[in-house]
Amino acid sequence: MSTPSTGFAPPPRHEKIVKPFATAQNPTTMTTTPAGNTFTLGGDLVINRLGYGTMRIVGEGAWGEPKDPGNARSVLRHAVKLGINFIDTADAYGPEISERLISEALYPYPSDLVIATKGGLTRQGPAKWAPVGRPEYLHQCVEMSLRRLRVERIDLYQLHRFDPKVPVEESLGKLQELQQAGKIRHIGISEVNRAEVERAQKAATIVSVQNKYNIGERSSEDALRYCEANGLAFIPWYPVAAGKLAKPGSILDHAAKKHNVSLGQLALAWLLHRSPNIIPIPGTSSLEHLEENTAAANLHLSEAEWAEIEKQAAA
Ligand SMILES: NC(=O)c1ccc[n+]([C@@H]2O[C@H](COP(=O)([O-])OP(=O)(O)OC[C@H]3O[C@@H](n4cnc5c(N)ncnc54)[C@H](OP(=O)(O)O)[C@@H]3O)[C@@H](O)[C@H]2O)c1
Repeated sequence: MSTPSTGFAPPPRHEKIVKPFATAQNPTTMTTTPAGNTFTLGGDLVINRLGYGTMRIVGEGAWGEPKDPGNARSVLRHAVKLGINFIDTADAYGPEISERLISEALYPYPSDLVIATKGGLTRQGPAKWAPVGRPEYLHQCVEMSLRRLRVERIDLYQLHRFDPKVPVEESLGKLQELQQAGKIRHIGISEVNRAEVERAQKAATIVSVQNKYNIGERSSEDALRYCEANGLAFIPWYPVAAGKLAKPGSILDHAAKKHNVSLGQLALAWLLHRSPNIIPIPGTSSLEHLEENTAAANLHLSEAEWAEIEKQAAA
């Protein structure tokens, strides 16, 4: 099938430029953090390791328009101003609304901005999601995301879920075809175990895995280890949560008080420390929370402190 043109001029694609993070406390001071501050996605896209997830800029339950679309656009612009150059979205957020807000707020895009979107999850209402991985549907998803995001090629296209009714080879085969046609730069997958990543790798070149993972939710350790061993990005969603460590009196609570930071900031700093392949994408609709989360990239604890925290997390 021939692919219709999106009708939009592509944004300029220069060499990706790395911008070190500015802190919320001092937005003009560039702070170089130790190696690991950036990750090279798919071998060619250099991104700052703390990204931004945009599921929260739409209505409740990832459904409908946000209460304040102007605020949503301000948060997006502020994220870029703070040095974030990896933004995660999906056609299912809204649906369509998160992608639309991104292009309204940020197009024409900065040359170093990497936008990752997803397809393959349909919507039936607030907080309702159902996978559809049929190739012809995914083809339409990609075409419509290209149009909404106003790009000619999507930097990272993630299969939002494997569809149990469709062999994943068929879903990924279509994405690979669209990659060969120049509409997708890199392919990622989401909510998968290690065996599923290995299976997907046989069907297409996979550069990222996006799973629920945080200091208190570690069921994806095996998938993370696979990503580390094979150079894939591991993009944890729900990253600011801390599970049982969020309780008053926990070691995380003590460390947060000692360093005068929030539990969420520590949870993000833990992810960045946990593995150089981890790219957290905290989601927020608040400028204040965005600043707070971004500042976590510059939070450093000693190895001894992390070891103590890890001991209690694993207990
Ligand atoms: N692949 C998948 O299946 C999948 C599933 C879910 C999400 N995601 C992606 O992952 C991203 C992150 O996941 P998430 O949004 O579920 O989880 P999250 O970032 O861990 O948490 C978001 C929640 O925490 C609040 N929050 C954020 N920063 C805060 C802060 N500094 N202080 C207090 N509260 C704060 C937000 O509310 P406020 O708006 O009030 O800040 C929101 O309710 C999403 O935006 C989306 O891009 C992917």
